[in-house]
Amino acid sequence: MDLAPDRLTNDRLAAWDRDAMFHPSTPLGSFARGDTPSRIMSGGKGSEVWDRDGRRFLDAFAGLYCVNVGYGRTEIADAIAEQAHELAYYHAYVGHGTEASITLAHMIKERAPAGMSKVYFGLSGSDANETNIKLTWAYNNLIGRPEKKKIISRHRGYHGSGLMTGSLTGLTLFHKTFDLPLSPILHTAAPYFAHRPDRSMDEEAFSAWCAAELDALIRREGADTIAAFVAEPMLGTGGIVPPPKGYWEAIGPVLKGHDVMLIADEVVTGFGRLGSMFGTDHYGLKPDFITIAKGLTSAYAPLSGSIVSDRVFDVLAEGTDKLGPIGHGWTYSAHPICAAAGVANLKLIDELGLVANAAEVGAHFRTALADAFASHPNVLEVRGEGLIAAVEFADDPETATMFAPERKVGAAIAAALLRRDVIARAMPQGDILGFAPPLCLTKDEADRIVSATAEAVEEVLG
Ligand SMILES: Cc1ncc(COP(=O)(O)O)c(C=O)c1O
Repeated sequence: MDLAPDRLTNDRLAAWDRDAMFHPSTPLGSFARGDTPSRIMSGGKGSEVWDRDGRRFLDAFAGLYCVNVGYGRTEIADAIAEQAHELAYYHAYVGHGTEASITLAHMIKERAPAGMSKVYFGLSGSDANETNIKLTWAYNNLIGRPEKKKIISRHRGYHGSGLMTGSLTGLTLFHKTFDLPLSPILHTAAPYFAHRPDRSMDEEAFSAWCAAELDALIRREGADTIAAFVAEPMLGTGGIVPPPKGYWEAIGPVLKGHDVMLIADEVVTGFGRLGSMFGTDHYGLKPDFITIAKGLTSAYAPLSGSIVSDRVFDVLAEGTDKLGPIGHGWTYSAHPICAAAGVANLKLIDELGLVANAAEVGAHFRTALADAFASHPNVLEVRGEGLIAAVEFADDPETATMFAPERKVGAAIAAALLRRDVIARAMPQGDILGFAPPLCLTKDEADRIVSATAEAVEEVLG
C-alpha cells in the first residue's frame, strides 16, 4: 500500500477520511455521507493557511485560537527537530526533567502573575483543568476540610471535553447525550451583559447581580462544601464576552468571604491574546490556579500547564512529606519536544513583540468591526478585547430577541465568509461570529477580515 500523501489524490484521501477518521465536533453522519466536506489542510505562513487544492485562507481564528505566533515559524520547527534528535522523550516523574522542560517552567513563572509557585505540565487544556480539580480536592483533604469539594463554573464557560471538564463546561452541546454535568459540578450565571435578565440594569448593576447569584448558590449549597470557582477571565467559546464593568471586583470578595479558591482558566487568554501576558493581570484576578495551554506553544506541539499558587503548593508539599509522593502524573507530562516548542514560542512572542501587537492591531480591528456593524439592524453587539472579538446577531437587537436556532444565521455567515477565503468561527451557542486571529496579524489583514465579513453579512442578512 502506498501511503505517501503527496502521491495520493485528494479524492482518495477524502474517501479514506470519511471511511476511517472519527472527527471531533463534527456531524458524524453528514460527514460520513460526504454532505459535510473533508477539508485537508497542508500548509501555512503567518496568518494564512492553505489546503491541498492550493486554496489560501486568512485564518481569523488561528486554528482553534491557538496558533498565536502564526503559521510556518521555522524557529519553533527547528527547536522541535533539535530536541527530537537529542532526546525525544524522558518522563518527569520523581524529579526527572530536561533542559527544555525546566527552562520552560522558569520562563512561565517569570511571566506569570505574582504569588504563583510551580508549573505542572500536561498536554491539553482539559487535562490541566482536571489536574486543578484534583489539586483543590487534595488541598482541602490535607487541611482537614474533606467536605469542601464542589466546583462552581459558569453557564457558557468552556473548560474542556473530559468527564469533569466537560461538566465544568456550561454549554448544552457538550452535555447532551453524555449524561453531563456530573454531580460535584454546579453552574452559576454567565456574565453576559447582552443577555442580562433585566434590560434596565447597567453593567455595574448586572455585575452585582452575578456576584449575588454566586453568593446565593454558595450559601444554598453551604460554603463548607464548595472548593473552587472556575472561570475564564473573559468568556471564550461561550460567546467571546468580556466581563461587564465591575464583574471581577464584585466576584473576588464573594470567593474570599466563603474561602472558595479561584481557578483562572487562561487557556485562551494566556500569553498575549488580550494584549496583556495574562488575563489574570488584565482584569486584576487573584487566582490559586491558572490553566494554560494553546498559546504556550502556539499549538506547534500539544502542551498545557497548571500554574499553582504558593499557598496551594506549600500545603501539597507538606502533604507529600507525610503521605508520600503525589499520585498524579501523565506519561507525557513535560514532554521534551513540546517543551522545546514552548521555549521557542515564548522567545518568539517576546522577540516579535506580539503581546503589544495584539493590543495595537486588536484595537484597530475592533474599532473597524464596530464601525462596520454597530448600527446594522441585526447586530446585537460588537465586542472583544485585545485580538479577540465577536459580532452577535439577533432578530431584534432592541429586545435581544434571537433568530430561530434552525435558521443557523451564525453558521451561514461563517460559511459566506469562508467563500471569501476568510476563516472565522460560528460560536456554538447563539448566532455569534468569533474572531481570534494570530497575534502577528497586520492592520491590512485586519481590514481584509472586516470587509469580507461585511460582504458575508450582507449576503446572508441583506
Ligand atoms: C478556556 C478553555 N479551557 C480549556 C479548553 C480545553 O482545552 P483542550 O481542547 O486543549 O483540552 C479550551 C479549549 O478551547 C478552552 O478554550
